[in-house]
Amino acid sequence: MTTSPQAPIAATLIPGDGIGPEITQATLAVLDALGAPFVWDTQVAGAAGVASCGDPLPEACLDSIRRTKLALKGPLETPSGGGYRSSNVRLREEFKLYANLRPASTIIPGGRFDNIDLVLVRENNEGLYMGYEHFIPIDGDPHAVGMSTGINTRQGCRRICHFAFEYAVRKGRKKVTAVHKANIMKALTGIFLETARQIHAEHYKDKIAFEEIIVDACAMKLVMNPWQFDVLVTTNLFGDILSDEIAGLVGGLGMAPGANIGEHAAIFEAVHGSAPDIAGRGIANPIALMLAAAMMLDHVERVDLGDRLREAINATLNVDNVRTGDLGGKANTQEFTAALLKRINAGK
Ligand code: NAI
Repeated sequence: MTTSPQAPIAATLIPGDGIGPEITQATLAVLDALGAPFVWDTQVAGAAGVASCGDPLPEACLDSIRRTKLALKGPLETPSGGGYRSSNVRLREEFKLYANLRPASTIIPGGRFDNIDLVLVRENNEGLYMGYEHFIPIDGDPHAVGMSTGINTRQGCRRICHFAFEYAVRKGRKKVTAVHKANIMKALTGIFLETARQIHAEHYKDKIAFEEIIVDACAMKLVMNPWQFDVLVTTNLFGDILSDEIAGLVGGLGMAPGANIGEHAAIFEAVHGSAPDIAGRGIANPIALMLAAAMMLDHVERVDLGDRLREAINATLNVDNVRTGDLGGKANTQEFTAALLKRINAGK
């Protein structure tokens, strides 16, 4: 995307459910202080959408993203087992946000793992999350058998592998690892592995190293020696699981941002959910959503502002030692945000 640095950029804002509005308010305050160019169109979805207009993904919200092609989204609640389909998954489908980009890097040194700098690229539209699921009733048990069909296409595998290699080369990374289970799911993840090998051989052989690993071994190696990895690319379900695992390596979900990127739209969010257990108490850690906002600034070519935000978060945590409870600190959301604003304003 090319924009002149000072041009206002229309963007959709979905505060979301649970802790969503609290961390969104904090994030907006820091974006304002930075002078971020976004002009927000605020919309509801998830449980807030159901409460306000009986729809977890209202047409007005979709229309807004169709217009802006850019959104910052708080967590959206999804009922487990029954109820409506995930609005997150529907948004990814609607806007063909095929790449889910989840970086995990150490911000607070001295944790269980230091100097982590990983990026996970997850295919976001295919695999076992396509929702081709049903139950088969037997002998009066309506849920006697549960079935799910996963689908990976050559085109989808090509797109995500190209994205991962391209991202890795552009960011000066050293290696791309394709994570699969092609020894067992020979068709579903075999096509992904085959395509990753092909794309590397045809387009990136001289540009970046490539390796492949089976998902269970990858999960184990990530906790034994995460430094051996750099950029990981994988299919939808494995990516969902491994991205939470790498978030755990750097202090948990409160620090993990994510970007959902397609050809025609991009939605930035925290990796964590609506945290109903702490919602409304003002103690949530807003950093994941703030880091998502920093990725959004990078995306609109305001890396300068994204870097300033990341540096201010770093200083607030490590120099001022102001941290929320999930990071072992005593600050609530407002106190952390106030300290961060001080840092941002001091750097002006
Ligand atoms: P969760 O991520 O909301 O919470 C897991 C644990 O982490 C909880 O103990 C929570 O208090 C804590 N936590 C999460 N974010 C935190 C933060 N910023 N600061 C401090 N602590 C934090 O996962 P859970 O409970 O499985 O899901 C709750 C709801 O969120 C569900 O309806 C789920 O579907 C939805 N969800 C939405 C996502 C999204 O919109 N992208 C992603 C994951 C879950």
